[in-house]
Amino acid sequence: MKFEQSLSKSISYLSAFSLSLILACTGAQAQSLNIPIETSSNALVLHTDASNHLGTIYFGKKLANAAEYGQIPGTYKQAGDYTGQLNSAYTTSGSRNLLEPAITVTHADGNNSLDLRYVSHTTTKVDDNVSLTSIILKDPVYDFTVTLYYKTFAKEDVVEQWSVIKHKEIGIVNLKKYASANLYLKSSEGFWLNQYHGDWAKEMQPEESKVTHGIKTIDTKLGTRANLFMPSVFMVSIDKPATEDEGTVLYGALEYSGNFKTDIELDYQNNLKIISGINNYASEYSLKPNEEFTTPAFLYTLSTTGKGTASRKLQSWARTYRLLDGKGSRLTLLNNWESTYFDFNESKLAELLKDTKKLGVDLFLLDDGWFANKYPRNGDGAGLGDWAENKTKLPNGISSLVKEAESNGVKFGIWIEPEMVNPKSELYEKHPDWVVKENKREEYYFRNQLVLDLSNPKVQDFVFGVVDNLFTKNPALAYIKWDCNAVIYNAYSSYLKNQNHFYIEYMRGLYKVLEKIRAKYPTVPMMLCSGGGGRVDYAALKYFTEFWPSDNTEPLERIFIQWEYSYFYPAISSSNHVTDWGKQPIKFRTDVAMMGKLGFDIVVSKLNENDLKYVQNAIKNYNALKPIIWQGDQYRLASPREGSVASILYLNEAKTNGVIFNYLVNNRYDEGSKYPIRLKGLDPTKKYTLTEINLMPGSNSSINGSKSYSGNFLMTVGFNPEVNSGRTSVVLQIDEIK
Ligand code: DGJ
Repeated sequence: MKFEQSLSKSISYLSAFSLSLILACTGAQAQSLNIPIETSSNALVLHTDASNHLGTIYFGKKLANAAEYGQIPGTYKQAGDYTGQLNSAYTTSGSRNLLEPAITVTHADGNNSLDLRYVSHTTTKVDDNVSLTSIILKDPVYDFTVTLYYKTFAKEDVVEQWSVIKHKEIGIVNLKKYASANLYLKSSEGFWLNQYHGDWAKEMQPEESKVTHGIKTIDTKLGTRANLFMPSVFMVSIDKPATEDEGTVLYGALEYSGNFKTDIELDYQNNLKIISGINNYASEYSLKPNEEFTTPAFLYTLSTTGKGTASRKLQSWARTYRLLDGKGSRLTLLNNWESTYFDFNESKLAELLKDTKKLGVDLFLLDDGWFANKYPRNGDGAGLGDWAENKTKLPNGISSLVKEAESNGVKFGIWIEPEMVNPKSELYEKHPDWVVKENKREEYYFRNQLVLDLSNPKVQDFVFGVVDNLFTKNPALAYIKWDCNAVIYNAYSSYLKNQNHFYIEYMRGLYKVLEKIRAKYPTVPMMLCSGGGGRVDYAALKYFTEFWPSDNTEPLERIFIQWEYSYFYPAISSSNHVTDWGKQPIKFRTDVAMMGKLGFDIVVSKLNENDLKYVQNAIKNYNALKPIIWQGDQYRLASPREGSVASILYLNEAKTNGVIFNYLVNNRYDEGSKYPIRLKGLDPTKKYTLTEINLMPGSNSSINGSKSYSGNFLMTVGFNPEVNSGRTSVVLQIDEIK
């Protein structure tokens, strides 16, 4: 089973480290035990009470002396706690608890109650930075256990938490809710939730509000393209809304690409419970005796010094531990989607391959429309699923294009959407039973297409085959854009016996396919696209090198979208393309796209000489700066939501070199950077110069001169990039003077 893979991986890793057990306790000997789950700055302290119930007594800044966790007030059951145990580390239902549970089950005998008591725990060190704590909880009446796992990444202050559910009852136990994590926070001042919503071309719209009593649910039921309307990432500020550099804030994200659900409940005693996991919507899971149900991990990081620290740590975690090839390189590219849409042929593409070289990027990416013959893919209404080259458009096939790219000195990449099918396709005609649909009901389409049933192993093989065939026939193929443009309507699998398992088995199927692709093609770059950012999460990013944040590439809009994604995902993972959306000049568009992984989707031949020269030079600058943009620390200096200028700094680890992107985001009269913007993260004792780069050919910068500044000066007084209506985009390189 897929969700078990990460666990079994950690376990085999642990055995390789000869299980350096640093702590092991059993409930029989140890009553009222404290279990601190620590990272370099924080501690989550769990506690067993006299009846061996496990609760959270503390989550915050780590204490110097762990023995003092025992002195934290409220260690035991709170006065007036009528509902069992408010601070339960994994809230059960059907007995004393009357608030939102983390787990709800119906036992094999039909009984609905569950009580979980601490049995034992172990903490093992995976390496100098990573530890794994597992805590076994068991029902005293039923042979039913839940093991809570906490994987900590000390330096990054990141925790991944998941649970493994198992029983040895006689018969099936139905899991009605099965959360990954159940956090519990305390504050005398209250909590603020920063959540996101969106739609196509409007991804990552933030909304912050004070949490009121009751439950706020962040969830999706879309199946695939699950984050389209609501991504699973969120922030909770404690005591007051956190700012970039101040306040305590928790970032949370479920590592799951399907239906998720996070319940945020402020209880009657003003404590906050966060319960996150797979959405149990239409997904009651029938668990056989001895079968293990492993939930996806819930990822969180806590910062007591504002959002900036949290995002830098999360980005660093992602690059080191999660994103495929997070520390590696990426290919700049020219994509043809917006320049041709479905209307291309070999000669048009030959020109685009030349343009790729002329521009100075690494790869040409052929988008949608290259396949299907009986129902040619000349629009989005037909052909999806029929992955053979269209003979009219490409009589010599993909392989000739790959060769042509090679002879132009560039690489070749290709678009696929292998999980989907148009009803007007040979695939649908041949395998109607491979399609997710209610046979008794009318079909509903999203972008004229339906979803293939990935719970079916034959479909898994087919989807794997789409990728495998492309690579087998074209070993030099260097990039895949994997799209996913539909949600799941009429969720029904002709393959599955138990429809309640459909949403879960779909995701297991998807991860199985991706796992198989990565076993055979471990590092080939793949972009995670879902008509935009409809599918970005840290389970998927294990298999993908980058994601497509939005089809909205209007650069002003894009500043806001990229800004919000940057709280959770590193710049190296964000595919930013320069297109013709909007009215901004080429410089503005290119500068904005340079803030992540740069690409282009423009008609190069339509650029005037000056614009072309500008772009070619900007790409050279980008190639020099990309190690900092991809691997450096990101400091948000001025928010586009708070003033008329957005400013963001990328700084290398040694604090010797960086780049600052500044934009005018409000074009009303007399707006701009009136005052210096304070820099962050520099070494106060170092001396720096600031140089404006990415200038239009023939223009000079009013800023460039021979002045130098101490880090102290730049962080205290600041520097004015002189952004105004005549200078709407200003890119500054910052370098230490040795
Ligand atoms: C949606 C993607 O977001 C676009 O970039 C493009 O690849 C189209 N699909 C192609 O159908």
